Amino acid sequence: MTRKIILDADTGIDDALALAYLAASPEAELLAVTVTYGNTPLSNALRNTIELMKRLQLTVPVYSGAEAPMVRTKRYSGAFHGEDGLGESLGVGEAPPHTPIRASDFIVEQAHRHGKDLTVVTTGPMTNLAEALLTDPSLADKLGGAVCMGGAVAAPGNVTKFAEANVFMDPEAANTVFTSGLPVMLIGLDVTRKTLLTEADTRRWRDSGSGLGRFFADFTAFYLDAYKRHYPYLKGCALHDPLAVGAALHPEWVRTVPFFLHAETDDDSRGRTIENLFPPEGARPNVEVALQVEAEAFMKDFFAKVEGLF
Ligand code: RIB
Ligand code: CA
Repeated sequence: MTRKIILDADTGIDDALALAYLAASPEAELLAVTVTYGNTPLSNALRNTIELMKRLQLTVPVYSGAEAPMVRTKRYSGAFHGEDGLGESLGVGEAPPHTPIRASDFIVEQAHRHGKDLTVVTTGPMTNLAEALLTDPSLADKLGGAVCMGGAVAAPGNVTKFAEANVFMDPEAANTVFTSGLPVMLIGLDVTRKTLLTEADTRRWRDSGSGLGRFFADFTAFYLDAYKRHYPYLKGCALHDPLAVGAALHPEWVRTVPFFLHAETDDDSRGRTIENLFPPEGARPNVEVALQVEAEAFMKDFFAKVEGLF
């Protein structure tokens, strides 16, 4: 059975890998990509998405969304994804023409059309999905659910000691999603840093002789280099966003624990995802947090499918 998916991405390097994985997955019917700021400004993220779709021969629409977090100011760092968001492979660019419908309006409209058959996979800050849920709170009961790459519950953070980047950027949006009533599966650093891509993988892509393989190998090499500098003990770079796609299509690859989850908004612990010890009376846990992953099963599927494109 195929699953209808909207990918909501801040199209940087691992988002690009997630998009390729979706393009190669017959279990997924990708309806659209909704784009947000995050790894890079919205204009670059849009341009990256459209360029990747052209190269992947994907013809689904692209919708533009939030340019900034709900209440905070955004600052960008090109350290992991490059100033252009794709390892300096495309350069900083203008957003090409795209549909004028706002990402969150599209999510609302599609939730009403497809109901439980639709899953939203977020691989950036959760601002677009939060905006959709605030526009129409009935979405929480309509949608099949959301699989969100974000958070670090039992593992260290990657922006601060405690916080993961997507939640750190817009913790208010994360809380809007977590408390909406929408079924949410959180694919955080607890599991994504157990799924790695290495230099041997990009070497195979480059040696495939395909232009697409070379393009993917070149921008992924930038990400690998950043990982080598920042996390030398990991021996590779994390497949954060592809794993969110993998878990949406194959939930049997992750083991989740129900949490009353909350994203901290105080300055000293901003973005930390932690148990809320004071949930509303009678409330049920709001987020399924993935704490274990069948890393080999996922990685085998990811590499086989993506390399099938090269
Ligand atoms: O913390 C990892 C996440 O932050 C990934 O989604 C990456 O693309 C960035 O958005
Ligand atoms: Ca991302």
